[in-house]
Amino acid sequence: MVRAWSYAALVALTANVAMGTDTVKCSSGSKCPKDLPCCSQYGECGVGAYCLGGCDPLSSNTLDSCVPAPVCKSDDYKLTSLDGITDKTKYLGDSSKTNWVVDGQPLAYQNQVLLTMAPKTVGTVMASSHYVWYGKISATMKTSRGAGVVSAFILLSDVKDEIDYEFVGVDLQTAQTNYYFQGITNYNNGGNISVSDTFNNYHTYTIDWTPDSITWSVDGKVGRVKKKADTWNSTSNRYDYPQTPARIQLSIWPGGLASNNPGTIAWAGGPINWDGPDIKTNGYYYATVNEVTVQCYDPPSNGTKKGSTSYIYADPSGLESAIQITDKNTTLRSLLGTGVNMTAELPTKGSSTSEVANVPGLNGGGPGLFGGYQPDGSAGNNPTKTANPTAFNQGGSGPNKSGAIKPEGERILKGSLFAGLIAVVGTMIL
Ligand SMILES: *[C@@H]1O[C@H](CO)[C@@H](O)[C@H](O)[C@H]1NC(C)=O
Ligand SMILES: *[C@@H]1O[C@H](CO)[C@@H](O)[C@H](O)[C@H]1NC(C)=O
Ligand SMILES: *[C@@H]1O[C@H](CO)[C@@H](O)[C@H](O)[C@H]1NC(C)=O
Ligand SMILES: *[C@@H]1O[C@H](CO)[C@@H](O)[C@H](O)[C@H]1NC(C)=O
Ligand SMILES: *[C@@H]1O[C@H](CO)[C@@H](O)[C@H](O)[C@H]1NC(C)=O
Ligand SMILES: *[C@@H]1O[C@H](CO)[C@@H](O)[C@H](O)[C@H]1NC(C)=O
Repeated sequence: MVRAWSYAALVALTANVAMGTDTVKCSSGSKCPKDLPCCSQYGECGVGAYCLGGCDPLSSNTLDSCVPAPVCKSDDYKLTSLDGITDKTKYLGDSSKTNWVVDGQPLAYQNQVLLTMAPKTVGTVMASSHYVWYGKISATMKTSRGAGVVSAFILLSDVKDEIDYEFVGVDLQTAQTNYYFQGITNYNNGGNISVSDTFNNYHTYTIDWTPDSITWSVDGKVGRVKKKADTWNSTSNRYDYPQTPARIQLSIWPGGLASNNPGTIAWAGGPINWDGPDIKTNGYYYATVNEVTVQCYDPPSNGTKKGSTSYIYADPSGLESAIQITDKNTTLRSLLGTGVNMTAELPTKGSSTSEVANVPGLNGGGPGLFGGYQPDGSAGNNPTKTANPTAFNQGGSGPNKSGAIKPEGERILKGSLFAGLIAVVGTMIL
């Protein structure tokens, strides 16, 4: 029902303080300028992390502004600790060094990972470092609960093809499924699967995505199938079918935030109660993830294969036929790099640099971080910026909060950008 990625955008605001840099917006009709060439998942221009996962080649300065995307890797990710989970400020694109890039606050708890949402924050998104270009992906998880609290397990491509599971916290008996093609709003693509208490029970949610069909299954039982053949759009003469390499994203986000539009709040089950039982007990709402398995399928046999390590977009259609598999490097040398200058280095000490946005969200919000989409078609709102990261370290006797990734880097980044860059580099390990 609601496009999950546009809400994931909210997370970009978590616990961050505006740095005074003006936000430059981007969309397919308004590409990024040359000095800030990369259009992030959230529709803002920058360098560095803006050019990594989620960077939209069709809205960026040129098709090669975004950094090539790491190819699919079959794996079984046991989410029993925070190992393999890296904060977005510390990721340069080397998918061999981390499995997940996170925005927000994951916590380790009794051999599970909690994705948390403390009062008045915008939750947590965890995205895979590897992309998937067709495959069978399963997430074993428990959802969050409560009015206005939404959990999601989605595949999202850089041109915003999307395949979803979404769970609203007032209906723990339903897995809502959906898909989108290139971010085009369509209210008729949803479908529900009945499931038992998604908060208290682990279920395994599977998306089996081939060039010809999408199958959603819960605990091995098929709940819904969508065939590509049934997605023909006779206006545009093409299949409105998700067909481009996508990252796996697991998230919790506040659909019931008071600043959201009424349609979204209603869909999410009403306004969030920031004083609800889970907040009282634990200090946050949370979704619990335990395992994600990825079985990559062969890429389309008629595709262009010039290597085996990365995906690029070779034409602006944003269709399957635009994708090439190459051996281009996926890793930046610093957060000043871009797809067209991957080896850009940070300025040496003492030299000056102009302000440049290099990690989405860290340059402050600006309006419209929702991605501009709202179910009723109105423009996005700017959610309440809040931000008390220490809230995560308080709270009661609930899930064990030890092992949290503390948002140190982000707090340091409140200062001047140059200091921020240096701080990021100081903690850069990947
Ligand atoms: C799915 O269930 C929700 C209630 O949880 C309802 O609002 C929505 O309309 C349903 N969607 C479909 C496609 O039936
Ligand atoms: C068909 O494609 C056009 C052009 O992209 C789009 O505006 C329209 O919403 C699509 N139709 C449906 C039913 O999605
Ligand atoms: C492969 O061929 C099909 C059918 O013509 C086409 O729709 C698809 O875009 C092609 N895929 C690639 C990767 O070229
Ligand atoms: C890719 O680029 C990174 C950063 O510049 C470098 O460390 C690495 O050696 C390169 N990898 C390959 C295979 O060239
Ligand atoms: C890449 O960035 C560096 C700054 O780190 C700059 O000196 C160099 O000229 C740039 N190269 C290109 C090809 O733009
Ligand atoms: C919390 O985690 C710590 C360190 O991992 C452990 O020593 C402690 O027993 C845990 N407490 C609970 C209640 O699980």
